[in-house]
Amino acid sequence: MARVEVDLASIPEGKNVIIKWRGKPVFIRHRTSDEIEEARSTDWKSLRDPESDEQRTKKPEWLVMLGVCTHLGCVPIGEAGDYGGWFCPCHGSHYDISGRIRKGPAPLNLEVPQYDINEADGKLVI
Ligand code: FES
Repeated sequence: MARVEVDLASIPEGKNVIIKWRGKPVFIRHRTSDEIEEARSTDWKSLRDPESDEQRTKKPEWLVMLGVCTHLGCVPIGEAGDYGGWFCPCHGSHYDISGRIRKGPAPLNLEVPQYDINEADGKLVI
């Protein structure tokens, strides 16, 4: 199984990085405190695919998810859309700053893969 390590210290706050994992893009965002606040204050129970931000992140400042739209598999664009997260240009799905589907045809939130954050060396391992 392919394992990928990413040095999180190389990703500044407020930035997105895209890596490849098992042939798929993985989005990593170093969220700002405002973004975390927004993600956590959303009334998630009313969302199409109800998941809290706490369920989707191991550490609030790091959002890690597959960059594959859950509609038909296009790669969404970061820092875009009506909810401050990602926008899929193929058919207009809007994801929020937790990667949750908020508007458009996609049925599910962007998928969060299994990962670990090593506290000792600050590496993300997927
Ligand atoms: Fe993303 Fe259709 S593939 S909206």
